[in-house]
Amino acid sequence: MGYGELKIRSYDVQIHRAGVEDLERRCEVGPTKRVVLFTDTMGDPICRIRNSPMYKMLVAELGSELVGVIQGSIKLATVHKPPKNLAKLGYVLGLRIAPLHRRKGIGSRLALELEKWFIANDVDYAYMATEKDNEASVNLFINRLGYAKFRTLAILVNPVDHRASRLSSKTEVAKLEVEEAECLYRKFMTSTEFFPDDLGNILRNKLSLGTWVAYPEGESWDDFGSDGKVPSSWAMLSVWNSGELFKLRLGKAPLSCFMYTKTSRMIDKIFPCFKLPTIPDFFSPFGFYFVYGVHREGPLSGKLVGDLCQFVHNMATKTKGCKVIVTEVGGNDNILRRHIPYWKSLSCPEDWWCLKALKNEESTTHQLPRMPPTTTSIFVDPREV
Ligand SMILES: CC(C)(COP(=O)(O)OP(=O)(O)OC[C@H]1O[C@@H](n2cnc3c(N)ncnc32)[C@H](O)[C@@H]1OP(=O)(O)O)[C@@H](O)C(=O)NCCC(=O)NCCS
Repeated sequence: MGYGELKIRSYDVQIHRAGVEDLERRCEVGPTKRVVLFTDTMGDPICRIRNSPMYKMLVAELGSELVGVIQGSIKLATVHKPPKNLAKLGYVLGLRIAPLHRRKGIGSRLALELEKWFIANDVDYAYMATEKDNEASVNLFINRLGYAKFRTLAILVNPVDHRASRLSSKTEVAKLEVEEAECLYRKFMTSTEFFPDDLGNILRNKLSLGTWVAYPEGESWDDFGSDGKVPSSWAMLSVWNSGELFKLRLGKAPLSCFMYTKTSRMIDKIFPCFKLPTIPDFFSPFGFYFVYGVHREGPLSGKLVGDLCQFVHNMATKTKGCKVIVTEVGGNDNILRRHIPYWKSLSCPEDWWCLKALKNEESTTHQLPRMPPTTTSIFVDPREV
């Protein structure tokens, strides 16, 4: 296909909204062999990037047909070691090409156009995340466009059972004021990779439901963290209500998962005393909580993270339509992986984050994509989910 007939332009809500929504509905995300998720943007295709400091959506048109879409956002975040730890990052997401127009170079063309917007805005690095098994996406970004695999994360997904359960009496959980939360995050997580410079905007966003800390019962709480004193073990996390922005829907699931869904709901109806975890209906659009900013310190902190997750689960049982809780953690963070509850069949063990340096002048810029991690954890920005 010659590029002459393909037009790439900025998304215009009046002209492109229906076409982008239709394309989103028709494009699965992820490898086709396993569970696949579809997104429903509920009439606002730009909702996934709208909360970022700068964002752009591009569409590709062949004649009057909308055949592709891509989104991008820009922010300042930690990637280097101090003293020069901040860099301008451009995040690439939501690349979708209409099934009948794949392998014609349209995906590459959209990604390159987005990079031009990044470069015009002085971005140091472009990055994107893809499931390891998404062969099309891995080939496109790594082999074709020169991105390098930078980090591996694990996306942990846990279904919300409709029953709340009792929290351990040995753990105290407290909600932080936004200012306290920001202060603690800046004190303990600023050097974490991808820590956003405008964290306050995230914590103050109406989708952020709050930040909680957990610590052992009997330990002092007053002025937690502010005067340098912290309990012997503690953990913190924040919760983002992604379901207010867009919904998910399961496309294809292994038969075993489907059968378990049906039978466990039936058993639950007939024998509620069995206390089986009921599995929500994932085949109609559902909302989810995204847990971000998970941090822990001290020997008991793994368990405290687990207690906080239980607390968040109980909160989710009271949010209409919230059917799963999603957390993304560093792939090597075995303690978090052990203590955060999740279902293997719904989770993604290897989410590859890929990076590309967009500036040529500094040699360190070009080395970064191949540098080993400076911390086990990574700050996953809830605005980029
Ligand atoms: C991934 C996707 C965007 C690719 O779009 P596309 O327009 O077909 O990509 P291109 O034509 O620019 O492909 C460029 C190169 O990427 C690789 N590639 C693209 N699709 C591929 C596939 N299905 N299998 C293997 N490699 C593939 C090839 O190396 C290809 O070059 P080639 O055709 O000369 O061999 C498209 O398949 C899609 O919309 N998938 C569903 C949504 C999705 O998974 N998005 C990615 C989220 S990160």
